[in-house]
Amino acid sequence: MNILVIHGPNLQLLGTRQPSVYGTADLSTINRELMRVAAARSAVLRIIQSNHEGEIVTLIGKAKGHYDGILINPAAYTHTSVAIRDAVEASGLPAVEVHLSNIYARESFRHQSLVAPVCRGQVTGFGPASYLLGLEALMAVVRRPALTDHQGVSAPSAPARRPAAAKKARRRSR
Ligand code: DQA
Repeated sequence: MNILVIHGPNLQLLGTRQPSVYGTADLSTINRELMRVAAARSAVLRIIQSNHEGEIVTLIGKAKGHYDGILINPAAYTHTSVAIRDAVEASGLPAVEVHLSNIYARESFRHQSLVAPVCRGQVTGFGPASYLLGLEALMAVVRRPALTDHQGVSAPSAPARRPAAAKKARRRSR
């Protein structure tokens, strides 16, 4: 399983950026932890950090056919980027949105995510663990469709893309 991990703007500053909000772990520590969890589950990660909306859109636009899912912290673009939302939706890949801080417990302009509605789900407020929980959730979406399928999914789900595998998995889980 191949997963594209995207860290949005200013996340290169983790460790020193508002530690009371984002904690003291730096980005390389988070990436190391992600790699450890992925390796234990035989998943391969490609991890990128970008401060540029267009670069993120381009990356997501090329993801189809190369990756099984996207783990994304769009950072400030969460609240502003129709372009990233459209790219995730167009990719047809399952995506999970993560945030270190609880965006709903902060300023009101952070309460809306434009990206989350086209993701399979969102993990917010657990510090670096949000990434690890989000990765676990994404791997479950890819590998265990019967366990993770639910009504109200707006992005194309794994079962929709792989009906045969989904049917088999459903039969197995009965
Ligand atoms: C963030 C939350 C965003 O509102 C903010 O702009 C960030 C980081 C988080 O991980 O908590 O840059 O995505």
